[in-house]
Amino acid sequence: MTIAPVQSSSPLVASGWTDARLILALEEVVEKELNRHLGVAKEWMPHEFVPWSQGRDFDGVLGGEAWSLEHSKVTPVGRVSLVVNLLTEDNLPSYHHEIATMFGREGAWGTWVHRWTAEEGRHGIAIRDYLLATRAVDPVELERARMSHMSEGFESDNAHSMLHSVAYVAFQELATRIAHRNTGRYAGDPLCEQLLAKIANDENLHMVFYRNLLKAALEIAPDQAMRAVADVVTDFRMPGHGIPGFERAAAQIALGGVYNLRIHHDDVLQPVLRHLKVMEIGGLGPEGLLAQNELGVFLDGLDGQARKFEERQAALLARREARRNAG
Ligand SMILES: [Fe+2]
Ligand SMILES: [Fe+2]
Repeated sequence: MTIAPVQSSSPLVASGWTDARLILALEEVVEKELNRHLGVAKEWMPHEFVPWSQGRDFDGVLGGEAWSLEHSKVTPVGRVSLVVNLLTEDNLPSYHHEIATMFGREGAWGTWVHRWTAEEGRHGIAIRDYLLATRAVDPVELERARMSHMSEGFESDNAHSMLHSVAYVAFQELATRIAHRNTGRYAGDPLCEQLLAKIANDENLHMVFYRNLLKAALEIAPDQAMRAVADVVTDFRMPGHGIPGFERAAAQIALGGVYNLRIHHDDVLQPVLRHLKVMEIGGLGPEGLLAQNELGVFLDGLDGQARKFEERQAALLARREARRNAG
């Protein structure tokens, strides 16, 4: 690597890598990871996962039947979760804007940004087609929520830093993979599960790309990358946090076992941190060590919170079960 860090006047940034230099320094890694991605990503057809024969006209222009809850064959948690997942995917134009602004549209970075956008584009298409053909959710409510959510746009919490952006997407792609996979698992329709497993597979390959990039960043700028990982992990929130009614939906999704603190800690944070050996990296300066230490303290605290959540979840589910048996 011939590109060197610049001297920083900030005492907080010991190694002084600017975003522009990091983007240049990581270009080779992006090219290698892009080629690896293109080699393993398999083409798939969203339309094959949609049971078109179940579809029929809605009310309105075609005078068909208005949607009604009894048409839906998916579970209540499946309905909530499918809508959150779809609205999150729907906001792709804003995500594209954020990453194209951060990583650029030139060279290997640009090729990745556009390819990633194309792959993400089929997720919203496939889920919407499935939901409408099967009448799984209220199409009017869905459309209004989409308009409202997309009209807000999406502003990354990490637009101030390239390393924070890379660290965020590494965890976020895995979080999205797990959310899709578990939504499929609990939706109560094997075809829905198959579709979401396919989408989850795309998200997994995205995670691998960003995780490998983060690994390279930890090698060339360990202190700054460690700070980015610590900040991103301690402040993590899902990209769909701006969805109307998100808090209530997130609570149902947590209770239903699709995505909660235990899953976030065990299935999202830990696998990436372990793979990158974040807690074992040596040779850090004072800033990197501070960040690594903050991360360790945070993870212990999160594990404790996850345990408390599980106790509350078990108690709540037991009460529900007792009520059901009594009724
Ligand atoms: Fe996606
Ligand atoms: Fe993705």
